[in-house]
Amino acid sequence: MAHVTALAAARNALLTRQGWQVERDGLFGAPKIRILSSDQFHGSITRATRLLGMGTGAVTGLQANHAGQLDPAILEQALQHAPDTPTIVLLQTGDLNIGAYDCFADLIPLAHRYNAWVHVDGAFGLWANVSARYQHLLSGVEQADSWATDGHKWLNVPYDSGFAFVAHPEAHRNAMSYEASYISHNDQVREQKDWNPDWSRRGRGVATYAALRQLGREGVVALIDGCCDAAHGLVTGIAALPGTELVWEPQINQGLVRFLDPRPEATESDHDRWTDAITSAVLASGEALFSNTTWRGKRCMRVSVCNWQTNAQDVARVVAAVARVLREQTTEAKHK
Ligand SMILES: Cc1ncc(COP(=O)(O)O)c(C=O)c1O
Repeated sequence: MAHVTALAAARNALLTRQGWQVERDGLFGAPKIRILSSDQFHGSITRATRLLGMGTGAVTGLQANHAGQLDPAILEQALQHAPDTPTIVLLQTGDLNIGAYDCFADLIPLAHRYNAWVHVDGAFGLWANVSARYQHLLSGVEQADSWATDGHKWLNVPYDSGFAFVAHPEAHRNAMSYEASYISHNDQVREQKDWNPDWSRRGRGVATYAALRQLGREGVVALIDGCCDAAHGLVTGIAALPGTELVWEPQINQGLVRFLDPRPEATESDHDRWTDAITSAVLASGEALFSNTTWRGKRCMRVSVCNWQTNAQDVARVVAAVARVLREQTTEAKHK
């Protein structure tokens, strides 16, 4: 809903410029909005476009570069095509597979030269801005028109703590507000319902407020750095085991490994199946929870560390558990 809120504000701003009042007249007959992004965008964007009546077809996923980022030359080419089309450029701080950050300092000014609205999917990666180690990845992100982020990922507060930040209060308010005669209005206070899609809602921000007050800046830095260290330790530790391939060494808290079928004649599809089998066996061991993903056509085990409690002992224990699973599965496969 943070994406929905921010993209509704974008829709308002872009269509107002075209002389179209979308809140009153809807989208039937409205100028079409397009969304340009790297092809690594998250499915939550797809669903937001469905809810907002833009349709999934509005999103063009441009081929990401080797580092999983949107390429400025490719974006510019897309922007030059039909430059008068109302456009949202979608960037992200940390894609779900490799934690790739788009290059905000180059891409946001470029998008703004073409009058596009820039929305950032910052679900987990926006929080890394607090750490001196990772701040460089977010350079320029403050120039975006909107951000969405989650408290329930890296901040470890309960689910359902999403946040929308919009740099244009008028567009944000126009997209969301409603005045009813039975509700008393006070211009001096911020009326919750004027800034989000709910009419009534509980104080969802309280958990995040409490976490930030308790942790302070240093606490959040420790949380971010600790998760990144753990992810790095897990990926490099697992990748050092025999029969394992390092697919992506974490830049932040996300990395990928792949397990190679030990049979000499094994093909890429065999490695895919073996990777799925090893991940399932690790899961069944109850020692760690990893999921599988398909990245650049290959099945991989996705290592993502978000929990503040994961420490160096856990990393050593999990690497040992994966080593045990690999030994057992290899012995079992030989006896088949
Ligand atoms: C990059 C990214 N964006 C958006 C989301 C959606 O998150 P949620 O529905 O938990 O707010 C996720 C969740 O994994 C994500 O990784």
